[in-house]
Amino acid sequence: MAGIRSALIATNITLSLVFFYLCTLPSSRAWDGNQFRKADEKEIEHYTEAEEGSWSEAYYFIFSTDPQPGLIDMIEGGDGSRWDTELENTRNAMTAINNMKPPPKFLFVGGDIVNAFPGESLRKRQEADIREAFSYLNSSIPIFVISGNHDLGNVPTPDTMESYQKEFGDDYYAFWVGGVMYIALNSQCMFNSTYTEGLCTMQDVWLQKELDRAGNSSCQHVVILMHIPPFIDSLEESNTYFSIPVSRRLALLRQFSHAGVEKVFSGHYHRNSGSVWTEQKQDGSSVEIEVVVSSALGAQLGGDQSGIRVVKVLKNAISHSYYTISDIPESVTLP
Ligand SMILES: *[C@@H]1O[C@H](CO)[C@@H](O)[C@H](O)[C@H]1NC(C)=O
Ligand SMILES: *[C@@H]1O[C@H](CO)[C@@H](O)[C@H](O)[C@H]1NC(C)=O
Ligand SMILES: *[C@@H]1O[C@H](CO)[C@@H](O)[C@H](O)[C@H]1NC(C)=O
Repeated sequence: MAGIRSALIATNITLSLVFFYLCTLPSSRAWDGNQFRKADEKEIEHYTEAEEGSWSEAYYFIFSTDPQPGLIDMIEGGDGSRWDTELENTRNAMTAINNMKPPPKFLFVGGDIVNAFPGESLRKRQEADIREAFSYLNSSIPIFVISGNHDLGNVPTPDTMESYQKEFGDDYYAFWVGGVMYIALNSQCMFNSTYTEGLCTMQDVWLQKELDRAGNSSCQHVVILMHIPPFIDSLEESNTYFSIPVSRRLALLRQFSHAGVEKVFSGHYHRNSGSVWTEQKQDGSSVEIEVVVSSALGAQLGGDQSGIRVVKVLKNAISHSYYTISDIPESVTLP
């Protein structure tokens, strides 16, 4: 009798657990969970100049950066082993983006996909969990990624670069969407290439080649995407943890401006910042590049709130606005 009773109780508990589990399963997730597009041979299938090289109409994309599961816990004094808030932020943002009309052409993740540095034990779980959270996005919207300092290490090594490439694809590449050329860079190479001199020189050579291509092409706009921004506030600022070193900064911006780059989108700072750099040419003319520093989808280090940036790509201009997750608009007006 007692045996049957405990068996019944055990069955009951099992059933309740199963029921509880079913009830807590995310209901809005209908996708296969692997829509991070991996760049190969420095390009992304279907997003090449041949397939996407000509302008047809205005559109927008989403720039999101630093989802970085684990950092909020560390800021609050923990060891970085909890990241439920980051996952919730990411899922909520993806769900809100799914409701946007018209849908964005793509979502770009500007690095620090995870918080744990290469080799740290929490990394695998963070990566699996954040991929799962991004998988809430409607799978018809592609996700492109670049590496941040947490993904590669502050001073990358050939090993950390190789494991990043295995997981996420090439660490630098170019892609085209609707007549616009996007150049995605591994900014860690420009921060400190002590252990990766050869690999980073290859990026420099490739970058110049791509910029030459951009400068000579008929693309509507050229946009740079890199985790560490060229600067936070202005060209003149001194070296900080948060920007490309002074020794590289001006030459890099000049390279960009020669090719007609209009915007640079970055993260890393966990605050919104940036400004327009004006280059005075010798002939008296001037060109402008806007450096946009976008706050994080995850942890904040300043007065902003977790959010994403909506980037409108119009025929003659690119404009952008940052939205806190709960304020992501349901409709986007494109002229
Ligand atoms: C995903 O987006 C496509 C294209 O906008 C749309 O047709 C489809 O209904 C969306 N899927 C879901 C489940 O909302
Ligand atoms: C780059 O990293 C190396 C190795 O950690 C270090 O010795 C060097 O000081 C760093 N360079 C700069 C400019 O921070
Ligand atoms: C066009 O390409 C050549 C190299 O083939 C390069 O020297 C030149 O700077 C490029 N023009 C622009 C505007 O980028």
